[in-house]
Amino acid sequence: MDIQLCIDYDIKKVSHHSLFSLEEVQHMETAEQSLSLRRILFSLVSLLDFTEQDILSSITHHGRRTAYTALHTGRKLGLNEQELFDLTAYSLLHDIGIIEHQYPPSNMQTDRLVLERDPNHCESGQRILSSFYFLTPLDHVILYHHEYEDGSGIYGKKGDEIPLFSRIIAMADYLDTRLYRKGTPGEVRNSVSELAGVTFPKQIVSAFIAASETETFWEDLMPENITYALERTMPRLDTQLSLKEFIRTAETISAMVDGKSPFTSTHISGIASRALQFAEASGFSQEHSRMFYIAALLHDVGKLIIPNRILEKEAPLNEEEFILIRRHPYYTEKAMHQMGLDPKIIAWARNHHERLDGSGYPNGLSSVELDFESRVIAVLDIYQSLIEDRPYRKALSHAEAVEILKDLGAQQKIDRDIIGMLEKLMG
Ligand SMILES: [Fe+2]
Ligand SMILES: [Fe+2]
Ligand SMILES: [Fe+2]
Ligand SMILES: [Fe+2]
Repeated sequence: MDIQLCIDYDIKKVSHHSLFSLEEVQHMETAEQSLSLRRILFSLVSLLDFTEQDILSSITHHGRRTAYTALHTGRKLGLNEQELFDLTAYSLLHDIGIIEHQYPPSNMQTDRLVLERDPNHCESGQRILSSFYFLTPLDHVILYHHEYEDGSGIYGKKGDEIPLFSRIIAMADYLDTRLYRKGTPGEVRNSVSELAGVTFPKQIVSAFIAASETETFWEDLMPENITYALERTMPRLDTQLSLKEFIRTAETISAMVDGKSPFTSTHISGIASRALQFAEASGFSQEHSRMFYIAALLHDVGKLIIPNRILEKEAPLNEEEFILIRRHPYYTEKAMHQMGLDPKIIAWARNHHERLDGSGYPNGLSSVELDFESRVIAVLDIYQSLIEDRPYRKALSHAEAVEILKDLGAQQKIDRDIIGMLEKLMG
């Protein structure tokens, strides 16, 4: 073992013991953690804000405002608390499908109405939400969220062919995209009343009219109030997910992040499966492996804030674009914190661009602050990136990638023991 390896080995021993007390490690091995569906939902909504900003150049709170309108309309329709919770959840995420699509094709910003008319966002949204198995399964709710009573919607469905939740969401979406900004509350109510029985069912329009009678309703829709208003009025229900249950959700979220750009389409899935190989080789317990796998799955979730025009840029990035790229681990941490994940899982994910010599980001942590799991994800992240195509270069071979890793190891940026493990496991 050469001197450098000894140093790294010692650093690792120190960091492993200084980061967790024995009690914490025991807790980590045995505790069954649970996560709140409600928190996961709101975290996803916050991430969607960035997609909206990328595409439309402003955050309009469209998902939240559509959800608020749908929830209060549903309440007047007499839906029970579970149904109202589900309706709000579906409405919050009704446009989640836009993440997977390349809007706009160039550097231009697009218009929400253009985006809302594209059937692709209905299809991908339906597929994504169907894999969120903890939401009450409901057929075609997202697929048909732009269908109107008279058959003038995207798929030409009419009346009873459209599920109830889709009909409510269609009206709430229409109100937010076309009517709310165009007039006083009275004018909005008159405009939607004119569409009753033609575009939207009479009963649903009447329920909205009843729900929107108060000044509170309109005040709640204001951008500065909408999150508070939803939290205040959403049914007090929640579902707790175990880490095991959450894994499927994390896999869906990571597929969304991978799906954002063709250049990174296998990035996270590749890292996550290699992380499991490391977990097995390191003798992690089942719970520890699950935690580590979730960290690998979500390490780049903050990439949802980066516009595709930057992710796919062929020319070298300018300084402003670099700064934007370097912001993503911060948003990974924020999203995972909002989901209520264990701080250890969050740190392993957030630290993937930190370097042992303190030259990484977002916190410039040094070797003593970087534990084994953080170091493994950092090495896997570089390795996986090197063996993938990038807009500015072709994928490298395993041997070429390992050479570069060794070079970085020699510069004390990444852990050389872990590079050795990777060579053994992936060779
Ligand atoms: Fe939509
Ligand atoms: Fe929408
Ligand atoms: Fe990253
Ligand atoms: Fe990554």
